[in-house]
Amino acid sequence: MKIYVSRDSAAKAVGADRVATAIEAEAIRRGEQIEMIRTGSRGMVWLEPLVEIDRGEGRMTFGPVAPGDAAALLDGTLEGHGPTEEIPFFARQTRLTFARCGVIDPLDLDAYAAHGGLAGLRRALEMTAEDIVEEVKTSGLRGRGGAGFPTGIKWDTVRKAEAEQKYIVCNADEGDSGTFADRMIMEGDPFTLIEGMAIAGLAVGATKGYVYLRSEYPDAIAVMRAAVELGRRKGVLGGDILGSGRAFDMEIRAGAGAYVCGEETSLLNSLEGKRGVVRAKPPLPALEGFLGKPTVVNNVISLATVPVIFEKGAQHYADFGLGRSRGTATLQIAGNVKYGGLFETAFGLPLGEIVEEIGGGTATGRPIKAVQIGGPLGAYFPPEKFDTLFGYEEFDANDGLIGHAGITVFDDSADMLSMARFAMEFCAVESCGKCTPCRIGAVRGVETLDRIAAGEADALPLLTELCDTMTDGSLCALGGLTPYPVMSAVRDFPDDFARHKEAAE
Ligand code: NAI
Ligand code: SF4
Repeated sequence: MKIYVSRDSAAKAVGADRVATAIEAEAIRRGEQIEMIRTGSRGMVWLEPLVEIDRGEGRMTFGPVAPGDAAALLDGTLEGHGPTEEIPFFARQTRLTFARCGVIDPLDLDAYAAHGGLAGLRRALEMTAEDIVEEVKTSGLRGRGGAGFPTGIKWDTVRKAEAEQKYIVCNADEGDSGTFADRMIMEGDPFTLIEGMAIAGLAVGATKGYVYLRSEYPDAIAVMRAAVELGRRKGVLGGDILGSGRAFDMEIRAGAGAYVCGEETSLLNSLEGKRGVVRAKPPLPALEGFLGKPTVVNNVISLATVPVIFEKGAQHYADFGLGRSRGTATLQIAGNVKYGGLFETAFGLPLGEIVEEIGGGTATGRPIKAVQIGGPLGAYFPPEKFDTLFGYEEFDANDGLIGHAGITVFDDSADMLSMARFAMEFCAVESCGKCTPCRIGAVRGVETLDRIAAGEADALPLLTELCDTMTDGSLCALGGLTPYPVMSAVRDFPDDFARHKEAAE
């Protein structure tokens, strides 16, 4: 009998290690032979600690499981959810980037290869750099960190740059609250990121890569470091990459916890050992990046999606999606929601279907009031906008952004003026201080919102003007995008602002 228990940190946080230990102890007590496999997450976070049992008829899911359930689990008397892949939340997905996550032991390279791993790298090794870049362009892959810049065009800029040394830098500083796709794939399928970085190296002529990983993710750091070590020993990294005579090696570097270090130029400064402040662009990192050399800076999900593009072909990937948003989005459904977790699907689902049907509405059972998409810098969407289709252009046309595909649900008890204040406060705390609209503007923004909360409705035009200045004058996305949540709250939830004026009168 095979038993699978997630080792993802979201599962461990609710007791997955204790559950695994209890099952093993119970099996020993009974003298029963079991094979315990610790996997990544299946993405169904509300079922954690989730246990899967395979008695020869496929994997059956149980959860949330408590240590005291171990005996019933082994007896076969514990009530479960049936075959894992038939659970509606799972069955509705198109898993390309996350195909192996939750299925295999993340540090079992043989299991990785048996489930399609390394096929993409082997194919890329047969191709010219130009053809690799063309393949990525054909797939339509765009930067999953948030900006949605075409990955193939970025790679082409680096490929064409003349330099003795080039670098691949993976931005794993997943700072957006409510997002966890980067963490989940690094903890659950680290080799897909390693393989994607190696393919990027072949495409642009880089032999060295770095993963800049936030210090708040100790489990991801440990898994990635172990995977790099194993990759070196097994010839997936280092010289003679898979026997081809080519070379690519990488290191895992831990950041120190500043949100702004997720901005690519701050990240590069931090990686170089300098203070994490934003650099002016141009020069683009693609031309002058790490240590002044041409550098691909890509998000974890962008790079981790590259292997499946090469394994199944660019057209297979491009066949999914909507408009200019090709392939799949790795939605992270969080906040006040019944079924929270990682849901990978082709671009194009209406927002309402994502939060009401897939997410199951709020966990409190109260009506949904707002959904914030794209992390703390994303706009709040009211139910009236739930017909917005999930795609870069579609959200842009509705004064929003999809960002890193974080979706945070709020019920009708949320006060949107407080949420707007939180956005300004967040910006004030996390500002790197380099430019005035953000450094001073965010502080003035908090003060102005406090005036509005005290009933001074005249302060609203000032807030709008301040937001315009931050949008137009900030050097990077932190100051430049903070007006999104603030102004969406003002625009779409006017009652929460008017209420304070009425109370003061
Ligand atoms: P950007 O639009 O300035 O740049 C996008 C990327 O394209 C950058 O890597 C840039 O260097 C590159 N690029 C632009 N023109 C190029 C060219 N001609 N050749 C090669 N490369 C080129 O956006 P930025 O400031 O990098 O990112 C902003 C986004 O970050 C926001 O939309 C936001 O959603 C997201 N974000 C994500 C967070 C997370 O935790 N994942 C946190 C905060 C923001
Ligand atoms: Fe720094 Fe804010 Fe200016 Fe960005 S917008 S460079 S975080 S001060």
